[in-house]
Amino acid sequence: MSVDNPRKIEAVRKEWDELSRGYDGYFNTFEGKLDEYLRCKLIKESLPEDKTARILDAGGGTGRVTLSLARMGYRVTLSDLSPGQLGVAEEKLREQGLLEEVEIREADIANLPFPDEFFDLVLAVRGPISLATDSSKAVVELSRVTKRGGRICVDVSSRYWAAMNKYDKDPETALKLIRSELNHACGAHGFGSLFSPEELEEIFERNGIRVTGIYGDLAYYLPEGMRKATKWGERSYHQVSEIIDRLSREKSVTGMGNDLILVGEKC
Ligand SMILES: C[S@@+](CC[C@H](N)C(=O)[O-])C[C@H]1O[C@@H](n2cnc3c(N)ncnc32)[C@H](O)[C@@H]1O
Repeated sequence: MSVDNPRKIEAVRKEWDELSRGYDGYFNTFEGKLDEYLRCKLIKESLPEDKTARILDAGGGTGRVTLSLARMGYRVTLSDLSPGQLGVAEEKLREQGLLEEVEIREADIANLPFPDEFFDLVLAVRGPISLATDSSKAVVELSRVTKRGGRICVDVSSRYWAAMNKYDKDPETALKLIRSELNHACGAHGFGSLFSPEELEEIFERNGIRVTGIYGDLAYYLPEGMRKATKWGERSYHQVSEIIDRLSREKSVTGMGNDLILVGEKC
């Protein structure tokens, strides 16, 4: 997947350093809340009962997921390429008295500084695999550090969503994406590697992960005004979140999601 990707790791790091201060703002929008709702629900379904279990939040950025898990009493390792993102995470963890509970490591997701079969649960959510300069290597690494019987929950940018997003202004690129002649384009979080549900399942299965589910995040299809809203009624939030949850599990529309979320278990 890295062959036609001209991006360099320094450029990705710089971009995410620059985005670190504003990143959490997205989660004050209706779309951000739905994004959080869906991922939290899937992560919760994968959580070990044992609070001493080790959890890796790879490409964990400003620590949104890490913070929730640390609050619940889990031992979490937060890793990311960007020192800027990790700096924001560190501030938040310190403010909440949780800094001692979390190990923070600056690391490329495609070259993780952890032993084989070390973590009971491995997370890489909101795009770090797609953003990696070598996505295939990132999958190898995430699987390597997961214990046998351990769980994994990751998401990637979707090939079909990226194609549909391009077919009015750039149909030539859209066609290449649909034909799998091009594996990179602008996805939800910027330029990155794209996957269809089948490609996503295949690469994880090939790397020793039994895939138990692939879910499509369809919140992007809400009208723009609704997605960007910063105020909403509780009733409409509950109704829309249930729609998003049900659609994410509906196989006939999974590939239309702008992100594809995979849940699996290391064999
Ligand atoms: C959209 S943010 C998601 C952050 C976090 N996982 C969350 O759920 O909020 C994408 C993150 O991937 C990180 N990232 C990009 N390329 C990476 C790489 N090669 N290795 C590790 N992290 C990377 C970025 O620095 C950024 O923090």
